[in-house]
Amino acid sequence: MKKIEFFRHGLEEHDIARVSDVLRSIFLTTGAVTGEFEARLASYLDIDHVIGVTSCTAALHLSLLAWDIGPGDEVITTPMSFCATANAILLTGATPVFVDAEETTGNINVDLMETKITDKTKAIMPVHLYGQMCDMKRIRQLADRYGVIVIEDAAHCIEGSRDGIKVGQLGDLACFSFYATKAITSGEGGAIATHSLEKAELLKMLRLHGMDKSAADRYTKQYRHWDMSVLGWKYNMDNIQAALLVGQLERIDALWQKREELARKYEQAFAGLSGITLMQTAPNSRHAHHLFTIQVAERDTMLAKLQARGIGVAVNFRPIHLLKYYRERFGYKEGDFPVAECIGARTISLPLYPTLQDDEIEYVIRTVIDELNT
Ligand SMILES: Cc1ncc(COP(=O)(O)O)c(C=O)c1O
Repeated sequence: MKKIEFFRHGLEEHDIARVSDVLRSIFLTTGAVTGEFEARLASYLDIDHVIGVTSCTAALHLSLLAWDIGPGDEVITTPMSFCATANAILLTGATPVFVDAEETTGNINVDLMETKITDKTKAIMPVHLYGQMCDMKRIRQLADRYGVIVIEDAAHCIEGSRDGIKVGQLGDLACFSFYATKAITSGEGGAIATHSLEKAELLKMLRLHGMDKSAADRYTKQYRHWDMSVLGWKYNMDNIQAALLVGQLERIDALWQKREELARKYEQAFAGLSGITLMQTAPNSRHAHHLFTIQVAERDTMLAKLQARGIGVAVNFRPIHLLKYYRERFGYKEGDFPVAECIGARTISLPLYPTLQDDEIEYVIRTVIDELNT
């Protein structure tokens, strides 16, 4: 039987060679290669500062801390995301306040946001779900009207844009993931992008205990004393992770182009079929195509059938508010966020990555259609 992995990374020999160079050097932790990756990502995004960290979860957590968000504060976000989004808010002691998703894209429904803003609201944390950007122009206007900040959860969306706005351009901060299945990956890794020099400097300290000098600053050439003026975490991206990412970043648009072609194939094959619902792409959007999802009524049956025929699948996402911890702590129940629940009960993610072969995607398409009809 054919086996089609849900995801395969596309690391190349020169990526591995860059890592070997670091391993043969004296300096493994945060240093020149981290700096090089940060500068290149900043240039790709057209944002002044990028801070490399160990995950997107760390990026979200530090972003909130950099704005002093904590106990007693509220942060508006979506239940249609990975639990890391809301967990990062909880890690600061603040409370996530959910706003339901919109049916067509799965992104946070901006029309419903205003009613959830209170005098405790300090931030809005939209998630660019599956790689499609939220309506950042409207979110920015709303945030400015109420004097709150915007932290973009861009774990799925490095390459996206909407209405001429790129990821991170209207947000105060944008957070990225280089987790094992992401568009570019270092196994685990993340980054924060911001236009603010002051916050970038603070974030650099917060990612390293709050120390005012990194290991590179302390040990290159001559030992230098350091001090600690804020309480930070241990979230710094090292040279090994950065080395793996530099080459992937150089070919990020070519990798995106391949996923775009694959996503079109899926869309064309499934368009108009009864029994399948597809997410829609908003006009004037460049979808980053991190994930391709379909929605079907008997989702778990379909999941089992596809896996039985050798196709790797995933579920992104069962809504956060219905996870046991959130139900028990906050008393959430079914019916609280009906659109997120409807997507969460019906969604399946199909294989989507640049090395997915033509015969493989055709097999996935044929199998899905077959199983729909049986
Ligand atoms: C929307 C979203 N936000 C945040 C994260 C957390 O990313 P990381 O695993 O890099 O911490 C993920 C992980 O997949 C995600 O899907």
